[in-house]
Amino acid sequence: MHRPSSISWKAVNTMADLYVKSLDMINPFVVASSPATQGARNVLKSSKMRPGAITMRNFGHGSGGGGFFYPDASAAYKGQQAFHSHAVGRQVPDSVSTLEQYCEEVKKAREELDSDIKLWVSVGHYSDIVKGGDWEKDWIRQAKELSLAGADALELHFNTPGVAVAKDRIFNYYELVRHCTTMIRQAAPKHVKVMVKLAVEGCDVLTSMRIAQSCGADAVGPTARWKAFYMDLDWRRTQPRPGSGYGGTQANPIVCYAVAEGRNNGITLPMYAGGGVFSFDQAARFIMAGSDCVQLGALACSGGTMACKKVINDLEKWMDQAGYPDMDSLRGDALQLFNMPADFAKARQNALGDAYQQWQVDTDKCIGCGRCVDVCWQEGIEIADRKAHKTDHCIGCGYCFQVCPTGALKVDAGAILAEPFTSRT
Ligand SMILES: Cc1cc2nc3c(=O)[nH]c(=O)nc-3n(C[C@H](O)[C@H](O)[C@H](O)COP(=O)(O)O)c2cc1C
Ligand code: SF4
Ligand code: SF4
Repeated sequence: MHRPSSISWKAVNTMADLYVKSLDMINPFVVASSPATQGARNVLKSSKMRPGAITMRNFGHGSGGGGFFYPDASAAYKGQQAFHSHAVGRQVPDSVSTLEQYCEEVKKAREELDSDIKLWVSVGHYSDIVKGGDWEKDWIRQAKELSLAGADALELHFNTPGVAVAKDRIFNYYELVRHCTTMIRQAAPKHVKVMVKLAVEGCDVLTSMRIAQSCGADAVGPTARWKAFYMDLDWRRTQPRPGSGYGGTQANPIVCYAVAEGRNNGITLPMYAGGGVFSFDQAARFIMAGSDCVQLGALACSGGTMACKKVINDLEKWMDQAGYPDMDSLRGDALQLFNMPADFAKARQNALGDAYQQWQVDTDKCIGCGRCVDVCWQEGIEIADRKAHKTDHCIGCGYCFQVCPTGALKVDAGAILAEPFTSRT
């Protein structure tokens, strides 16, 4: 794990407490609606990782299975940039086809699930709306019967409203969120929470979160999946269907922004952010941006319960090392970076420029390759005697650091980068 040497980490020496007060969950991980949560059998299998909650997948739609990763799943688990789509291989078939059977699955799961793991249950599907007919009555009936069957929470699925209907979604999305959240909140018993899973793309997610909050939602789950098209140049083929829903690690900073923006603008509801979480650090970032919980989607499907268990354990260990004793201390801790005042940010950037201008070369490491000279647009560096030397023209932009293959260029900027944190503590 990379840590700037200038930050001192205060180990708390006791295992961090992952309990999430706002949603009464044993830890912040929600196994998200997917093949890993389809039917009682898979909900129970997913419970082996002991997450805080599991969302049983909605029924009657039979889509989403298989899995395609680029460059590959192991890259994603190592925290490297990767994207994925589930539009390859046979789509996982529905485990049930009627509400009665779905309720039976919920009942069975609730009876056999450890009592400290919450069971969230997906209500309805976007395709119901597209088909038309009496979908509202159906959804209200689902909300009531699934609550009776033992759901701790009902989840409304507006995160991947279906690539096929994206055109309509952009125009009707907010109205849909408003209408359905109000309708399901009224239909569900008070003790059953209503979770509203939201897209961050193709809409303004702050507006969606505000609408969900004002309509009585109990939590919001900003999540990312894009229309995209990927070609494998070696094979000149495309794995997923062009335009099918892509997720990936690139979602992480985008969803972090949505979370932080929400926290800065009056969203006080519990949040369960999702998208691109394959390792503990991506989960930590969501929570530090202000999310209470974190969804595990593709990781659960393609990494299984062991990979998810590792993420949960790794977060606990890291919090312990980094001096976060509990979730309250971690949640929102990065908002001080997000909210850096403009004058502070400007001063920080100038300080970084000054630090970069003071770079030094480690002559033992410099191999005189000249890559730094190639990327310098200020004539700030030159090669003499097969070593890099700074000239008077260096402005401290920092480009040369990015290309040096041996790490020969040295700069001491860690303390400046960490300042928003350290100046507070
Ligand atoms: C194979 C697969 C199927 C999915 N099916 C559903 C679904 O039926 N309903 C739903 O609300 N979300 C579905 N999702 C989205 C996940 O619940 C979750 O929000 C998302 O996967 C989080 O992003 P990540 O996969 O990058 O972790 C699915 C995800 C995957 C990987
Ligand atoms: S890129 Fe690095 S190794 Fe190559 S000349 Fe510049 S400082 Fe030396
Ligand atoms: S810091 Fe910028 S200006 Fe200075 S030598 Fe490196 S690339 Fe050139």
